[in-house]
Amino acid sequence: MEGVTDAPMRQVISEVGGLSFCVSEFLRVCNDLFPAKVFLKHVPEYSHQCHTTAGTPIQIQLLGSNEEAMALNAARAIELGARAIDINFGCPAPQVNRNDGGATLLRYPDRLRGIVSAVRKAVPAHLPVSAKLRLGWESPEDIYRNAQEAAAGGASWITIHGRTKKQGYTPPAYWKYIGEVRSQLNIPVVANGDIWTLDDFKRCRDETHCDHFMMGRGALANPALTLEIAQELGLRIRPSSVQSTSMSFKTGSPAAWLPILKRFAEISAPHSQGNLYAASRIKQWLKMAYLRKQFPLFEKIKLSKTVEEIFAILTLETHS
Ligand SMILES: Cc1cc2nc3c(=O)[nH]c(=O)nc-3n(C[C@H](O)[C@H](O)[C@H](O)COP(=O)(O)O)c2cc1C
Repeated sequence: MEGVTDAPMRQVISEVGGLSFCVSEFLRVCNDLFPAKVFLKHVPEYSHQCHTTAGTPIQIQLLGSNEEAMALNAARAIELGARAIDINFGCPAPQVNRNDGGATLLRYPDRLRGIVSAVRKAVPAHLPVSAKLRLGWESPEDIYRNAQEAAAGGASWITIHGRTKKQGYTPPAYWKYIGEVRSQLNIPVVANGDIWTLDDFKRCRDETHCDHFMMGRGALANPALTLEIAQELGLRIRPSSVQSTSMSFKTGSPAAWLPILKRFAEISAPHSQGNLYAASRIKQWLKMAYLRKQFPLFEKIKLSKTVEEIFAILTLETHS
């Protein structure tokens, strides 16, 4: 998630466990081939063979509409050591869409296919190229054609966020379309959108019959949720008291949150532009939990200017 799941966030979330892989924030490709330093800055995990130090693989996401430039940049991403490329056809940001990127391509299925195909040809066959789609620009029915075109272009799998661009992030996510596409395609389909709880996950699985799920905001609002879901899916995870940890995050227990926030601050320090920035990132994170009614203490920390202030308040709350 652009502006949210940067390298320190990917690191700290992958340390909790339960993730098969993470996708980078999108790298916006215009007409040029980026120099290596752009990739290395965008995805610092290149220095660990595109894995977090907890061992979670990182997929590089590209966004753009110029087939040739997308292909060239995908090839460079791979030359530098990436092991998978994802293509963003879901971003609803007006600035991105005005420049012919992200969800705009959902209005042009042939172009979408062309981009997937060009990137697929530029990436060695044994490495995956996937596509991230919304249901459509305006009509959710557009997903049927777009998903088919992505598959025909050679996508190894597609991830579908169950909303149109017009729906933005307004609940609910319409999982039924994801299930229909899954039954029509013979590539894996990853279900995404509004999985906030284990119950949501179970309903999404029942409705889509998918085997693969992508977590966005839900994985941050409750950092133990991914572990709970991985356990439900029967994936091999580190033994831990998953349910009780998840419950502690859900109730906003400062004792559960403090260690992970401290770890985030520690990892962010070399990347962050000063203490104010680190504090604002932590508040951004906690606000996601607060909006889900999972972190009532947000009211107490929202005016804090430094990480020290935030941690002092949470420490006090731990002992009260
Ligand atoms: C702040 C923000 C930034 C996002 N940036 C990206 C992005 O860079 N690439 C992408 O594929 N999706 C991005 N998304 C969409 C999410 O990946 C996901 O599809 C969406 O939030 C729905 O899933 P969720 O309900 O699990 O969060 C972003 C979402 C948010 C809220």
